[in-house]
Amino acid sequence: MNNSIAVLILAAGKSKRMQSALPKVMHPLAGRPMLGHVLDTAQSLKPQKLAVVIGGDMGEVEDFISPIPAIVQNPPKGTGHAVSCAMDFLKGFSGPVLILYGDTPFIGQQSLLGLLDQILSGASVAVMGFYPQDPAQYGRLVLNQKGELESIIEYADCNDMQRTIAFCNAGLMAVDGKQLPNLLQDLKSGNAQGEHYLTDLVAIARGKGLRCAAIEVDESEVMGVNTRQQLADAERIMQKKLREKIMAGGVTLTDPNTVFFSYDTAIGPDSIVEPNVLFGPKVKIGKNAHIKAFSHITGAEIGDHASIGPFARLRPGTTLADDVHIGNFVEIKNTSLGQGVKAGHLTYLGDATVGKDVNIGAGTITCNYDGFEKHRTEIGADSFIGSGTVLVAPISIGKDAYIAAGSAIVENIAAGELGIARAKQSNKPGWVAQFRAKIQKLLGKKSA
Ligand code: UD1
Ligand code: MG
Repeated sequence: MNNSIAVLILAAGKSKRMQSALPKVMHPLAGRPMLGHVLDTAQSLKPQKLAVVIGGDMGEVEDFISPIPAIVQNPPKGTGHAVSCAMDFLKGFSGPVLILYGDTPFIGQQSLLGLLDQILSGASVAVMGFYPQDPAQYGRLVLNQKGELESIIEYADCNDMQRTIAFCNAGLMAVDGKQLPNLLQDLKSGNAQGEHYLTDLVAIARGKGLRCAAIEVDESEVMGVNTRQQLADAERIMQKKLREKIMAGGVTLTDPNTVFFSYDTAIGPDSIVEPNVLFGPKVKIGKNAHIKAFSHITGAEIGDHASIGPFARLRPGTTLADDVHIGNFVEIKNTSLGQGVKAGHLTYLGDATVGKDVNIGAGTITCNYDGFEKHRTEIGADSFIGSGTVLVAPISIGKDAYIAAGSAIVENIAAGELGIARAKQSNKPGWVAQFRAKIQKLLGKKSA
């Protein structure tokens, strides 16, 4: 049934109220642009046609949605005008057209199916209404005495009486594709904002004797994001949902409100996440892992029984096999560690491949960058890297090798060898007493 629908996502609006150079729909929520959340929901309906209306100069939005087609609305002259711009794209399509807003990221599939049902049962226009805690600047839904939808009045155009209406327009709309072109033709811009409002389709349809319907949805699904404040509110709602989902999957969060997830964070059961941990996009963690406080993890795959942190930083391209231990103040990037590797303290591993059961001593640094290019470090299984080792890449350490603490390693080390690269130590007996006597003599001369 659903593959006979078309979906348009409106995303051409400027970021005026966000005060931002970044298009509003590209502002991230739980680690991805808010438009991504809407696109996912739209695609779950398997529409026959799907496009996003974007503004001029929105290359980053076009790249983000590719290969989904972008329809350019330049300049944007209102939500109704945005839909008019998509008429060529919809030419010949006569099924229900669903219009979503790129700034309404929480909309769920069930509610959209409810909206489409209204069109399938004979309404020409169906909208979503809700009772927001703070009706603020949402458009108001005007019902007739029979409870049928008569019109939508934008906040800027409401009189004082109309502003007291609590039933508000969520923005999302379904329109009978056969009627849509005719209805759009009658849009006018004689309103407070000088725009072609999509919301006027309701009064236009009523004027033609067509039926319009409003279904009620919960505010949590349809809050619009127009300001930085609303972006923060939306993030809070999104995080609450993600925390609940992760916990339902068998993960302990010691203090859920302090842990921040991305939309795609996956953590296996019986793992524990301590307070103040942030997960960026593309993190996958196995079961029985222990992520300790104040860790920052992004783009990392982590095996079972891992122990990470406190204060660990795992960056994109990190792959940790099972039973890996990463301790405090360790940073890892574009590096894979084999099973059982331990890097307990104060270490940077970048662009490295480390075999199983390697022990990385405190303060080990891979020097992966020579100011021009990045180079790799290879460390064979069962090796022992002494504390304070500097590995100047490109460099290869064989299996079961040892590196003496404090070495700056610039030449490869073969399997089973000890590498030692530091100045030879010499001790000077009696030196301290001689030194003190010398200093005291000097001080005595000064005070005399
Ligand atoms: C809109 C509704 C309002 C509703 C509210 C719900 C209209 C006229 N008003 O107001 O009734 O209560 O959403 O959140 O529709 N856009 C374009 N081209 C344009 C203008 C906007 O593509 O020319 C896009 C925006 O990028 C955005 C969406 O349409 O994703 C909604 O536009 P926005 O300016 O946020 O409308 P609201 O003022 O929130
Ligand atoms: Mg909006």
